[in-house]
Order: sequence, then C-alpha cells, then structure tokens
Amino acid sequence: MTQKKVSIKIGRKSSGYDIRIGNDLLAASGNWAVESLGRSSGKIAVISNKTVFAIYGTTVVKGLTKAGFETFVHLIGDGEKYKSFKTLEKTLAFLGENKISRTDAVLALGGGVVGDLAGFAASVYLRGIAFLQVPTTLLSMIDSSVGGKTGINTSFGKNLVGSFYQPNGVLIDAAVLATLPRRELTAGFCEAIKQGAISGKKLLEQTGSILEELDNNSIAKKLADGHFTAEFEQLLAAQVRFKALIVAGDERESAAKTDAKSRKILNFGHTFAHAIEKITNYHYFKHGEAVGYGIIFAAELSKKLELMPLDGVNLLNDVVRRAGSLPAIGHIDPSEVLEAFKYDKKNIGNSLQWVLLKGIGKPVIVSQNDIPGSALRSVLQSIIRH
Ligand SMILES: NC(=O)c1ccc[n+]([C@@H]2O[C@H](COP(=O)([O-])OP(=O)(O)OC[C@H]3O[C@@H](n4cnc5c(N)ncnc54)[C@H](O)[C@@H]3O)[C@@H](O)[C@H]2O)c1
Ligand SMILES: [Zn+2]
Repeated sequence: MTQKKVSIKIGRKSSGYDIRIGNDLLAASGNWAVESLGRSSGKIAVISNKTVFAIYGTTVVKGLTKAGFETFVHLIGDGEKYKSFKTLEKTLAFLGENKISRTDAVLALGGGVVGDLAGFAASVYLRGIAFLQVPTTLLSMIDSSVGGKTGINTSFGKNLVGSFYQPNGVLIDAAVLATLPRRELTAGFCEAIKQGAISGKKLLEQTGSILEELDNNSIAKKLADGHFTAEFEQLLAAQVRFKALIVAGDERESAAKTDAKSRKILNFGHTFAHAIEKITNYHYFKHGEAVGYGIIFAAELSKKLELMPLDGVNLLNDVVRRAGSLPAIGHIDPSEVLEAFKYDKKNIGNSLQWVLLKGIGKPVIVSQNDIPGSALRSVLQSIIRH
C-alpha cells in the first residue's frame, strides 16, 4: 500500500488539511479519519448514493467503526437531479434526527454529486460541522473535491446555491476507479487535460502518457500493474496540486481578478461545454465529455485569433482523442450554440469572458467583445462538421 500526501493551505483552518492519495486505502479510512479530525470518537454521518455505497460502503463503515466512530448512513439517489433542495432538506433532517452534533462530522463517499451536496449540508448544518471527502470518480478526485466549492442545483440554474467550505481531509483511493463506467473515466480525463492545458506542458504530457498507457485497456486491469499505479498516483497528486495552487491564490473566485492566476482559468473549455450541455438539455453529454469538445473549441479559437500556434492545437487534439470517444456532435445547430453562450455564468457586466491560450500553460481571459463574430462562427462550423 503506497501513499502520497498533498497538503493544502486554504480555508478556515489555518493549519490547512491533507489530501491522501494511494491505492486500496478504503479499509484504512478509520485511521485517516482519526488523523483528519484529530479524534477517535464521535459520530460520522456517511452520505453516499446507492450505487457507490453498494460497492464500497461496507469497507468504509467497517474502517470507521474499527477506529472508534459511531457511523450513520444516509443514501441519496444516483444522478445530477438529486443535487437538489429536496435532497438537501432530507439530508439535513437525517443529521438532525440522528443528533449529529457540532463536534461530529459528515463524510461524503461518492462522485461530485454526493461531494457537492454533502459538503453543502456540512457547511450549513449547525452553521458548519467537520467534513471529510472520499471522492470515487476521477472528476471528483482531481477537480470537485479540491477547492471547497459545494452546492446544489435549483430551478433557476445549476450550482447557483452553495458555499465555499474546505474539508478537514480528502482520501483518494485510485483502486475505486476499477468499477467506474468508461464514459465517466473519459469525462474525468477531459477535466484532467483541461488542467494540463492551463498548467503547462509537464502536466499535459504526464496526463497524455497515462492515457497512452491505458489505450484500450480497462483501468481495472491497469491498476493491477504496480508500475502503472505508481505513475497514476503521481498524476493524481500533480493534478490535485495544480488545482489547489490556483484555488489558494483566488479562493472565492473574485470577479475583478482576470489575470492568469485567477480561478476563472479553470473554466478553460467550459464556455463551449456549457453551451452544448444546455442545448442538449444536460442529458446527452457527461459534463466532462462536453469539456473535451470545449478544450478543442477554445484551442481552435485561440489559433484563429493568432494567440496560439498550431502545434499547441494539435497536441490538445491528440490528447483529447486519447481520453476516449466522445458522443457525436454533428447534429448540433451552430446558431443555437451562439445563442446559448449568452447564458453562460461567466457573463460579467454583459460580456462573456473566454479563457483562451497563448500557448500550453499560458491562459488568457478574453472578453467576447474583443472576438470577431466571424471567428466564432468559423470555429463553430469546423468543430461541429468534424
Ligand atoms: N465543487 C466543484 O468545484 C465542482 C467541480 C466540478 C464538478 N462539480 C460537480 O460534480 C458533479 C459531477 O461529478 P461526477 O462527474 O463525479 O458525477 P457523479 O457524482 O454523478 O458520478 C458519476 C456516476 O458514477 C457513479 N460512480 C461514482 N463512483 C463510482 C465508482 N467508483 N464505481 C462505480 N460507479 C461510480 C455514480 O453513482 C454516478 O452514477 C456535478 O454536479 C458538477 O457540478 C463540482
Ligand atoms: Zn468542469
């Protein structure tokens, strides 16, 4: 059992918290919880969904119990639609009914849906109690569990109600990816490529070389190979470190900050992604798959505006292709995409902010007012046609 530790210095605890990364760590989740919380007693409310809990729940609960905690399990439905007020209300009621107190903790076991919902519940229940995260999708390991954004979807939009709330500890066990559906893995890798693209060649190539090793093999098979596992854990650690670095410089995504260190750069690839997700009613693409297309779109637009040379675009195209096949987009109407850009959350003072690249690792924020409509339309045509 190998382990890596990434220490994060953001949030309400001046001491920060640790993200542990390794393989087969779930059975030892009790020791990790003791270290993260600084105590070996009290209650832990495990929030998970039926799918994930059926595979990993018993191991985690046993680990926590063995370490001295009293555990309570609350399962939510599986899917984005459960990241809702209704689920939040039921979750808070569960905490209340089980007399979870200010000195107890919430533990999220699952992907980004469970993590965002449970984190938000932990942040508002009794005005905030301790929160532990065990992310089980690639996306939640490298993206949603780092940075402290929690929240739910509402009738007026996605992720519009939430809080910034840093956890007390995060446990990333790569072994759980063995059961993750292939499309979810591809989606997670697209977010990893996004982070590589804005971080620099090193992280992008590290991500690309893991994808090359994976090729058509299942990750379950590859995780049985110690050499691959070690390299993969290194990639997870590098990804987490990069996201933490950006978040630490701009924890609350300040509206005024528009430089290359702004948290906004994490939205690279997301303007086009949000548009195609919206016009397909959020049912057709996994979010990360849409980001895969968004990366290509932003890269092509960067080239069109003569910000980035062709080799950067080719490299990104190549790495995204390695992440796995994406759902076809030939049927999407370019004019609907243009219309959907208007609704992007990153609209500030009526101007859409694009994250583009001057090169790999060189993000720039460009206002849509400074982008000719003809450039947008021509890139749109070429992406959708291919
Ligand atoms: N807080 C943030 O900063 C942030 C960042 C990015 C995304 N998000 C949010 O994350 C959510 C998406 O998260 P996600 O991509 O993890 O999706 P998800 O939580 O819906 O998980 C995807 C699917 O995989 C299943 N699953 C999870 N782990 C598994 C495992 N190990 N084995 C088998 N099946 C498993 C889940 O049950 C689900 O069906 C969105 O709501 C998004 O808004 C938040
Ligand atoms: Zn995303």
